[in-house]
Amino acid sequence: MIQWTEDLATGFDEIDSQHKELFRRINEFHMACKLGKGRDVVEDTIGFLSDYVVTHFSTEEAYMEKYNYPGYLSHRAQHETFMKNLKNIREELDREGSTVSLVIGINNMIVQWLQAHIRRVDKKLAEFLNSRT
Ligand SMILES: [Fe+2]
Repeated sequence: MIQWTEDLATGFDEIDSQHKELFRRINEFHMACKLGKGRDVVEDTIGFLSDYVVTHFSTEEAYMEKYNYPGYLSHRAQHETFMKNLKNIREELDREGSTVSLVIGINNMIVQWLQAHIRRVDKKLAEFLNSRT
């Protein structure tokens, strides 16, 4: 289980509640995998990520632009990498259906990436936003 902790707070409710929801969904995915039900939730998880994460990235990018965040371009490049990974995963799902290798792919490329991104890259953004407000 992963946990959202206060040190990840950006001070902006909109971003923080989105991060909490992401953590909640990641935990749900982990739990399904643990119960051997990973393949059953692949489609749902990818659907959620496609909608929710895209919205979430735009929210963050809007804050970065509004506050002239100096790390904006490299942060946005990371979001683009994620979208590319997600697109590959979606194509694999279309091609082969829900497979164990897809579950592993979601876990490595998507879930691990997202956690690391929130803990490192978004945390830096949070520190910046906090210093500005
Ligand atoms: Fe981000």
